[in-house]
Order: sequence, then structure tokens, then C-alpha cells
Amino acid sequence: MEKAFLIQEIGRLRKEKNAVIMAHYYQERDIQEVADFIGDSLALAQQAAKTRADIIVLCGVHFMGETAKIICPDKKVLIPDLKAGCSLADSCPAEALKAFVEAHPGHTVISYVNTSAAVKALTDVVVTSTNAVQIVNSFPKDEKIIFGPDRNLGNYINSLTGRQMLLWNGACHVHEQFSLEKIVALKKQYPQAELIAHPECKQYIIELSDFVGSTAGLIKHVQNSQSQQFIVATESGVLIEMQRRCPDKQFIPAPPEDSSCACNECSYMRMNTLEKVYLCLRDETPEITVDAGIAKKALRPIERMLDISAKNNL
Ligand code: 13P
Ligand code: SF4
Repeated sequence: MEKAFLIQEIGRLRKEKNAVIMAHYYQERDIQEVADFIGDSLALAQQAAKTRADIIVLCGVHFMGETAKIICPDKKVLIPDLKAGCSLADSCPAEALKAFVEAHPGHTVISYVNTSAAVKALTDVVVTSTNAVQIVNSFPKDEKIIFGPDRNLGNYINSLTGRQMLLWNGACHVHEQFSLEKIVALKKQYPQAELIAHPECKQYIIELSDFVGSTAGLIKHVQNSQSQQFIVATESGVLIEMQRRCPDKQFIPAPPEDSSCACNECSYMRMNTLEKVYLCLRDETPEITVDAGIAKKALRPIERMLDISAKNNL
């Protein structure tokens, strides 16, 4: 289908159906351009909590759609491709987490938003990479904490807060792909460039970085920094927003180990296309559904996250 037709029809249907199109920064450019709102996982959850639309088209991955549905049970939440999953969320099945929690009684369970609704239902408070440090620090220093599923983010929070949270051994296949060797070579080639990284990256990338932050944190940082060049170690969709906000600065995507693949693009996020956005808005399917019992239990830790974030102006 022609792009011009898709854009026109998406505009028409969105108005007619009182729908809102929300997109994560990892979505392809065409989807970002048609979205009413672009954000990171925290901003998408916050936006879902305040939207007046009847239909949310969540252009992101499945757990983001679930989070929106849990926050807005009475709204229809659509996702362009139901198979858009997340390797990190998949690394933590609810049954396995349940067994782990039972094996470590007396721990508070803090889960990254990149988890299924069933995992959130086992969780005391949800975090995103934007608010994780503040939320962990909202607990007493000696609180016993299980943190999952991202071991790299967990390690990073432990190093910043001086805690020893018990970590789930999961990771994101995109953020673990970056090549130390190739990044070191790029730093030599661009000696003025700052290396900036998402905390889902491996520890040696984080240690080498000049700045570490969530998607929103990285975008804000490039705007505020005096530097003109940045080597960016995160999903490459974020560079679209960075370049839009800072047209005169140069952004160099950090290379993955295997240069023959586009491994710094999340293959799940990229399952969504403009055509699928149009089709899901037209046909009102695929729809995200969450079991009512699980949704009820998962809502509490999500609301807790939203409350703590609001108190910290995040
Ligand atoms: P944030 O949007 O919270 O930075 O998370 C990055 C990510 O991997 C989303 O899937
Ligand atoms: Fe999941 Fe990684 Fe893709 Fe984010 S980038 S959705 S953590 S697989």
C-alpha cells in the first residue's frame, strides 16, 4: 500500500474512532512520524494513564501493550503485531520467578517494566530505566530486594546505590550485542565524541561510557551536552529523535559484534510497520487482553511506580 494512502487513512480513522497512536522511540521512522505521542516505556505508561481516547494503538512491544491495558482496562488497546515480544521479558517466565521468590523469602520484588503481566502480578513495584534508581532508593538501605529480569541494569543500580540486590539472570539481545573492540576503535576515530549507553548494555560498555541513561535520559543528555559528536550504544531508533532535536550534532550508532546484521535494531520492535498500524486501526485487531485476576494484581505495582515517579518529577 502507498505510504501517502496509509498516512491519510490513519489520520482519518484515528479521528473517527477517537484513537491515539503511541509509539516507542525504537519504532521505525514512518511510525514515529504518524504517532500522536512518542516516548520511552515510562512516558508511554504515563500517557496511557491520562489519555481520553477510546482506543490506544500501542506501537511498541507486547509488554508495553499489556501495561497500557492494565492501566486502562476499559479501553481497547491494539498493537500492530501481536508477535512483537521482547527477549528480556521472555528471559523471566512467571513460574520460574515465583519459584525464585519462594526460595528467597523476605525479599521485596522489584521488576523492570520489560516483563509479562504475570510477572508484574508477582511484583511489589515496577520500574523503568528512567526511575529505577529513585524507586530502589525509596526503600531502606537494608531492604532485601530481588531485582529482575535485566542483570546489567541490576548490576548498574547496585553499583550506583551500594546495594546488593539479588539479580535475575536475564538480558536484552540488542543491548548485549555491542562490540567493545569496535567501540574502542570508533572512540579513536572520533576522539571528541562522547560514548553514551543504555544501562541494559554489558558492564564493560557501561564502564567505558561517558554517560549512562534511559532512553529519555540519553535524549535529554545529548541536548544539554556541549559535545557535538556522540557514539550511541542503544537501539538505533533513538537516533531519529536525537537528530530531530539536535540537527547540528553528529550521532554515530555503536556497532554490534556482527556487522553483517542490523543487531542494534530490536527485531521485535521492527515487526511493526506503517501498514500494520493502518490495518490494526481499521480492523481493531490484534487487541491486547490481560486476564482480569492477573491485571488486578499487576496494577498495584504499576501504580506504585507511577506514584513514586510523579513524586520525583519523572
Ligand atoms: P526504556 O524505554 O525504558 O529506556 O527501555 C528500553 C527498552 O529496551 C525498551 O524495550
Ligand atoms: Fe526487549 Fe531489548 Fe527489544 Fe527492548 S530492545 S523490547 S528490551 S528485546
